[in-house]
Amino acid sequence: MLERREFLQRAAVAAALLGVPLPRVEKNFCQEPPPLPSPDLYLKNEDAYWARLRPQWLLAKDRSDLNCGSVGCTPLPVLHAMIDNILHNEEFVDPYYPWFGYEENPPLRELRDSLSAFLNVKRDDLALVRNATEANNTIGNGLPMKPGDEVLITDQEHPGGRCVWDQRVVRDGIKLNEITLPKPPASAAQIVDLFEKAIAPRTRIIAFSHITTITGVILPAKEICAMARSKGVLTHVDGAHAIGQVPLDIQDIGCDFYGSSPHKWLLAPKGTGFLYVREELQPQIYVNIASGSWKDYSLKAYRFSNLGTSNLSIMVGLKSAIDFYRTIGPDRIYRRIHQLASRVRDRVAAYGRFPMLNASADPFYAGMVTFGAPEATVSRIFQECDKRKIRVSGGADHVRVSTHIFTQPSEIDAFFEAMDAGLRSA
Ligand SMILES: Cc1ncc(COP(=O)(O)O)c(C=O)c1O
Repeated sequence: MLERREFLQRAAVAAALLGVPLPRVEKNFCQEPPPLPSPDLYLKNEDAYWARLRPQWLLAKDRSDLNCGSVGCTPLPVLHAMIDNILHNEEFVDPYYPWFGYEENPPLRELRDSLSAFLNVKRDDLALVRNATEANNTIGNGLPMKPGDEVLITDQEHPGGRCVWDQRVVRDGIKLNEITLPKPPASAAQIVDLFEKAIAPRTRIIAFSHITTITGVILPAKEICAMARSKGVLTHVDGAHAIGQVPLDIQDIGCDFYGSSPHKWLLAPKGTGFLYVREELQPQIYVNIASGSWKDYSLKAYRFSNLGTSNLSIMVGLKSAIDFYRTIGPDRIYRRIHQLASRVRDRVAAYGRFPMLNASADPFYAGMVTFGAPEATVSRIFQECDKRKIRVSGGADHVRVSTHIFTQPSEIDAFFEAMDAGLRSA
C-alpha cells in the first residue's frame, strides 16, 4: 500500500503529466482505482457491467470519445502503474538504469515476455518501439532495395505507413504500386486477388494495414501473407489498429514483419509500440536509428529497440495495459467492442441512404464502422457532434465511428441524435 505522501506525489506527477485539475487528480490518484465490477454482474446484465467499468477511465462525464481509432483512453490502473514507475525510477534504487532505448532491463524483459505471449510470437523476434510509424519506418528504411525494386501498398495506408516508401522512391529510385481497395469489400478472396494480380516481377514486399485507417476495414492478413509467400514476396503488416481491437496471433498470420500502436485499442500509454521481425530476416534489416548495438545481431529483434534514451515508465504502462486486458478478458472485450459497432452499423443502415464502406460482412469490421455521406452532410454531422462534445473521425466524404469497452450505449444514442439533427438542418 502506498503511504499518503506517496499518493500526494503521484497526484502531483499526474497533474503535471496529464494537465488534469488538482481536485480531480486528488480524487483519482490519491486512492487506488475503483474495484472492477464483479464477473457475476457480467453474467446477469452486460450493459450494467460495462457501465460499472466506466469509472476506470478519467474520460470526462460530459465527453464521448467515439474515436479511439486515433488515440485510446488509458485506464486508471495503467496510469497509476506508469506514474508510480516515474516516481520509483527517480529514486535510482535499482541496479539497472531506469531507461528504455539501450540494454534490456528487468521491467522491459517482463514486458517482452508478456507481449510475446499475448501476440503468440517468440520474445526474441519482438522489438519495442514508440509507435506504428516507427515500426513501419524500421522496415521501410531498413530493407535493402535496388533501384527499380517494387513495393505494393493499398490506397488506404496511413501516412505513417506509406510515406517511408514515398521517400525511398525519391531517394533510392524504387517503384511504389498501389491497389484500390473496394469500399466495401465483397469477399476476402476479392482482396487477395487484387493483391495477387498487382504483383510484378520486381515486387519485393507488400506493405498493408491489418485494419485500415480510412475505413477501418479488416484485411484478410493471413491469406494475403500466404499468397505473397507463395510468390516469394515479403509482407509487412501495419497493425496499428489491431492489437486490442481484434484477437491477434502474429504467428498464425504468417507475415514477415508486423508493427503496431498499442496506445490505440489496447489503451496503453501514448508512445508505446512494437515491431515483430521474422527471425531469418533479422540480419538483413538495417536499423533505422543507429547507435552502439546497430550490428549486434546477438540481440535478435531487440537490436531495433536501440533508440537512445526513451521513457521506461510508459513501457511499464504497456505491461500494465496487457494485464488490464487479460483481467477483463480479451474475448469478452472483443465481443463488446464488436457488439457496439454492430449496433452502430444497424442504425446507420436503417437510414437507407448511407453506403457502408467497411462493414459489409462480419469479418470486415470489429470496432470501427465507416459510412459514406456527401461533404455537406458530413460537415453538419461533425458540427452537431462538436456541440454535444462527441469525438468522431472521418473525412470529406465519410464518417468513422469507433466503439470500445468504455463506450456506453447512451453515447451511441447521442451520436445518432447528432446525426438526426445534422440531417434535419440539411
Ligand atoms: C494504419 C495506421 N498506421 C499507422 C498509424 C500511425 O500511428 P502512430 O501515430 O501511433 O504511429 C495509424 C494511426 O492512426 C494508422 O491508422
